[in-house]
Amino acid sequence: MKKPIIFSFILLSGMLLSCENTSNNTQSKESDTPSLSQQEKEMYLTKGKTIAKETFITLSSNLKTKMKSGGVQEAVAYCNMAAYPLTDSIAKANNATLKRVSDKLRNPMNKPDELEKGMIEEYQKMLAANEKLKPVVIEVDGETRFMAPILLKPACLNCHGTPEKHISESDLAFIRDIYPNDEAINFATGDLRGIWSITFME
Ligand code: HEC
Repeated sequence: MKKPIIFSFILLSGMLLSCENTSNNTQSKESDTPSLSQQEKEMYLTKGKTIAKETFITLSSNLKTKMKSGGVQEAVAYCNMAAYPLTDSIAKANNATLKRVSDKLRNPMNKPDELEKGMIEEYQKMLAANEKLKPVVIEVDGETRFMAPILLKPACLNCHGTPEKHISESDLAFIRDIYPNDEAINFATGDLRGIWSITFME
């Protein structure tokens, strides 16, 4: 189990380096900070996966309940109100901050930072090459960061799929009303919807 993590770490470090604009950089700034031991990395990886899973289960079970009682629109309204407090509280209880970010956004507040943007691009490439997308733990600027893919499932199509085929006209209008610049539609099952991004506060 250790190899993929090391591999991902090297891959991402390489990727970060290749994104640097300065021509004469020889070392990444990560090398200044003491790096995590393999054991610590495993620990953060497990912790990150647990937080992401718990958040996903809480979000999706609440969504399902709202869909049943009031359909897509009630679920969208709920998501708009509750997604942030919910994800925040689960992460906080674990002494971390959590974001769900994407390159095709519904809520502009979920915009990725440079590191997350790079990881999304990397996952997209891996997906195109039929590789398995795995969570990563990396240390950047003294912070321990966890990132993992969010793949689209059939249950997401009602709100992120193809208009008319999966999303009714009135539901789309309702979504557009709350999110006028919504880009988070036309996804297919298995697409990379975004990533979980967790920063540990230690
Ligand atoms: C009932 C409609 C609905 C369903 C079903 C739904 N979503 Fe969303 N999704 C939303 C709304 C609304 C937002 C914006 C939430 C906010 O304001 O923070 C959102 C935001 C997101 C984001 C954050 C990035 C962004 O674009 O703002 C991700 C990632 C995401 N959804 C993934 C999923 C996945 C994966 C599924 C299926 C497991 C899913 N969603 C199912 C309505 C839905």
